Amino acid sequence: MRFKHADTRLLGLLLGVLAATFFVGTLLWPTARTEVLVVVSTLFVVTTILHVRRSIDARLEDNRRSSQAYNALLKLLPLRRPLPPMTGWAASPELAATLFSIVRTEQPQTVLELGSGASTIVVGYALEMNGAGHITSLDHDSAYLSNTVGTIRGHGLTNAEVLHAPLADVAVDGGTWRWYDLRRLNLPESIDLLIVDGPPRETGPRARYPALPLLLDHLSADATVVLDDADRGEESAILTEWQRMAGWSIERVASAKGVAVLRRVHK
Ligand SMILES: C[S@@+](CC[C@H](N)C(=O)[O-])C[C@H]1O[C@@H](n2cnc3c(N)ncnc32)[C@H](O)[C@@H]1O
Repeated sequence: MRFKHADTRLLGLLLGVLAATFFVGTLLWPTARTEVLVVVSTLFVVTTILHVRRSIDARLEDNRRSSQAYNALLKLLPLRRPLPPMTGWAASPELAATLFSIVRTEQPQTVLELGSGASTIVVGYALEMNGAGHITSLDHDSAYLSNTVGTIRGHGLTNAEVLHAPLADVAVDGGTWRWYDLRRLNLPESIDLLIVDGPPRETGPRARYPALPLLLDHLSADATVVLDDADRGEESAILTEWQRMAGWSIERVASAKGVAVLRRVHK
């Protein structure tokens, strides 16, 4: 079992509270140090066990949901090769299944993705099943880009391309971000589906924020925007700011990393 940062913080907090309780307890009740120690230790052990159990249950639930989404994709996609792994940095099966369902239902003609990989392949197949549409994916990392290009070729997808967009200093709303350099790229005119799964957060605080301010004018009137890792604090802050920028309805898809689907609200 892997602890999340929040779990470790919570356990630290718990330990701090119990240590403080022990300290105060022995001050108020100096003759009963051993009894206080036993009570505090028992409390600590019990709460830790309960917390670990809750963590394990949550992980099991995440795994069950991921397996269901992955199995559904295997049934729905007319795969010519196995799918790339959907673990770690790659799109989660929940994100991939959400994208598949949006593409099949909304039939976008033009898809722009920030951060290429397994998701590019799934969207490529879904567009192929629709009989129309094209996905352009941007990647700042040339090694990762070559990998995705090779996978696209292996799957024989002719409606998917990956463009190299190195990160550059980009000015947005009075600040500077390390974000994709769009200057030499021929971006699609009217984007029906925008998938925001990059750049990685290691590139700077609120790394994905510029996507909407910089691409809003390229979105079609009924565009859908999908943000991955939406449960992270930084992405939640980004969603709040995006919502201020334009009227969006936000649908949250349950997944270990969180997926948010934004649709324009027409007044
Ligand atoms: C979250 S990933 C994008 C995942 C992609 N949508 C997929 O389905 O696989 C965002 C970016 O991180 C970079 N990246 C992916 N895997 C990486 C790794 N193992 N180490 C460092 N960077 C990675 C790539 O440049 C990618 O565009």
